[in-house]
Amino acid sequence: MPTVSEVLTRMDYGPAPESPTAAQDWLAAHDGFGHFINGRFTKPADGFASFNPATGAELARISQGSAADIDSAVKAARRAGKSWAALPGHARARHLYALARLLQKRERLFAVLESMDNGKPIRESRDIDVPLAVRHFYHHAGWAELLADEFPGHRPHGVCGQIIPWNFPLLMLAWKVAPALAAGNTVVLKPAEQTPLTALLFAELCREAGLPAGVVNIVTGDGATGAALVDHPDVDKIAFTGSTEVGRRIRQATAGSGKALTLELGGKSPFIVFDDADLDAAVEGVVDAIWFNQGEVCCAGSRILVQESVAEIFTARLKARMDTLRVGDPLDKSTDIGAIVDQTQLTRIQGIVAQAVEEGAVLHQAPAPDGPGSFCAPGLLTGLGAANIAMSEEIFGPIVSLMTFRTPSEAVELANNTRYGLAASVWSETITTALDIAASVKAGIVWINGTNLFDANAPFGGMRESGFGREGAREGMAAYLKRIAPVGKPRKPAEALSASPGIGADGGIDRTRKLYIGGAQKRPDGGASYAVSGAQVPLGSRKDIRNAVEAASKAGGWSAVTGHNRAQVLYFLAENLNARAAEFAARVGQDEVDLAIRRAFYWAAWADKHDGRVHSTQSAHVTLAMKEPFGVMGIIAPEEAPLLGFVSALMPALAMGNRVVIVPSQSNPVAALDLVQVLETSDLPGGVVNIVTGPRTELTDTLARHDGVAVLWVFGDPDTCALAERQSAGNLKPVWADPVLRDWMGADGQSRAFLNRAVQVKTVWVPYGA
Ligand code: NAI
Repeated sequence: MPTVSEVLTRMDYGPAPESPTAAQDWLAAHDGFGHFINGRFTKPADGFASFNPATGAELARISQGSAADIDSAVKAARRAGKSWAALPGHARARHLYALARLLQKRERLFAVLESMDNGKPIRESRDIDVPLAVRHFYHHAGWAELLADEFPGHRPHGVCGQIIPWNFPLLMLAWKVAPALAAGNTVVLKPAEQTPLTALLFAELCREAGLPAGVVNIVTGDGATGAALVDHPDVDKIAFTGSTEVGRRIRQATAGSGKALTLELGGKSPFIVFDDADLDAAVEGVVDAIWFNQGEVCCAGSRILVQESVAEIFTARLKARMDTLRVGDPLDKSTDIGAIVDQTQLTRIQGIVAQAVEEGAVLHQAPAPDGPGSFCAPGLLTGLGAANIAMSEEIFGPIVSLMTFRTPSEAVELANNTRYGLAASVWSETITTALDIAASVKAGIVWINGTNLFDANAPFGGMRESGFGREGAREGMAAYLKRIAPVGKPRKPAEALSASPGIGADGGIDRTRKLYIGGAQKRPDGGASYAVSGAQVPLGSRKDIRNAVEAASKAGGWSAVTGHNRAQVLYFLAENLNARAAEFAARVGQDEVDLAIRRAFYWAAWADKHDGRVHSTQSAHVTLAMKEPFGVMGIIAPEEAPLLGFVSALMPALAMGNRVVIVPSQSNPVAALDLVQVLETSDLPGGVVNIVTGPRTELTDTLARHDGVAVLWVFGDPDTCALAERQSAGNLKPVWADPVLRDWMGADGQSRAFLNRAVQVKTVWVPYGA
């Protein structure tokens, strides 16, 4: 019998098992599962088993969805779409409230089933996954109610294909289904093959709630089923959460299809601890950052960066805390870490950790139970070199890496030394330090003195190779809506270049124009030019694009100045353009010049007004949705409206703080090149605008592939747009592919889309009032 003081020291407690009976009864009532299509379950077909990762026991037989199943689900969704979208928002809201309420009523069953299927501790499925899923349905029921007022001029995409991973099966379903339905879309959802059960239970709920048939369809299966959904020609939007590798494949597969796409992919998120942090709170933070959900979290704080002066004490406290974590039965309420989703994932985790150790890392690992379940002990890797695999590869398990830094700028450098950009945690008691770091890290979400906080009213999503698009809040709603705009005819490809040597067309004088790179007029790298009506223009190449991107990268100051300052520079630019209106009018006509000048003023006016928001979340935070420039932006200006199109695309990009590499109309680039004189007489710093003329296809290809270009706009023909989307799969930059003729003279030439596409949202959670 332990003494009272021993009990108080160990703080040990006995088992507190949750009953699996209700979930077992539900499973027993089904002899295998079919797909949920058009409001009915299909007959269970050949497929695979879903296992309980904590015991290895088979839970159920699941059907493997074929291309034909996907086709009938898409057809059902299409059929249902018309009347669903036509319902008043209020009526859709009622359906969503009904789903929310039913889900709430069955919370316990969902939580137990989720823990059995996924291996996550019941405490987490009960207190986090399921209540948050409920919250998503309530929140988005509200958006359905408010849609017409808050998103005038918008319509749903139509049929949404949604593919979700195994780490938060029900929660990811809620994140995807709730906003899609609120906006008036219908969905075909494919759960992960490892964890389909709560989605199937949810399908039953849809029936019970009286959701019209075909509004939600659920087709189970593996990656092949997912690929069939992605490839289906009648799907209007794909929303994917999962690995970066599959995200890339989906980017390629949807290129040129016109399907809207949002990708929420992997991460290697930094967890930055300054020497003035509340270290005990930060240690608890690590528990939530990497040991929540077995570390199988895309935004897990998997890289601890701790200030050198406190590294030793912090590491010691962290190790002590690790040793108290309980790994074991997910259905035991005192379990902290459950089972890894399956043996494959466990083997993958062990493989990366073994390689990290081989590369010199030191592993501290707490004990974990042996099989038959796939358990993994929590681990801490120290002594890592910057090139160690554990610093770059997403482990997606309960293993965290730790490195030290000396200064805040070194912390930022280390934090950003990753191809990902999903989340970051910053721990400091000094508000200026915390907020400075929040502004400097490249991440879609930043938690200050906290971690892994989620809410339906907080935008969630990444930068860089963590994907694009946001889920949650107004920003997430926008991703399920489309602006109602006139649909023009597809653009024609630019005419073939007529390359001819040196001499200009008018009068034998060499009037060859130059490129504009880094604030100076430059000859193209190859020295060649091509002939257009009235001039020789430079034949820019890959090398020139690379030089232009380098110049734009160095002009980072532009992104840091205030909107007020940017506006002044852009007004001055607009005035300079006005002063030379007559010259430009001779080239492109008075109307186009007049409108180009107005546009320049118009976008300058926006420089300090496209504000972020403060979102009200459930916890005590001000949750800021900051609109940040992407950084270096590539723009393929339209062939049509050579001056107006160029100015209309360039100015909003600049107003939002981006530096731009822009390719003018191929057949009519002279007006854009003449703008160089306007740029030179304005106060725009060198490198903020770079103009490269030449073969659009080749230049688009280079911009799409270039890792230094964060976002690309292509006002081109369908093939060039498709090329841009396909070639962007390497670094997963967002591409605005605009393949149809735009009325640059009309409202479509200055829509809000230009502003929204010129910024990315960073969600910063600042503790407030706790
Ligand atoms: P995955 O990306 O293959 O699976 C996610 C979903 O995509 C599943 O529903 C799957 O069936 C589907 N899928 C697979 N191939 C597809 C294709 N070609 N087309 C369409 N859909 C497809 O992830 P997986 O294999 O389960 O895990 C591998 C690694 O990915 C993990 O070790 C982890 O590092 C990472 N991962 C990241 C997630 C995140 O949320 N960031 C979630 C799951 C995994």
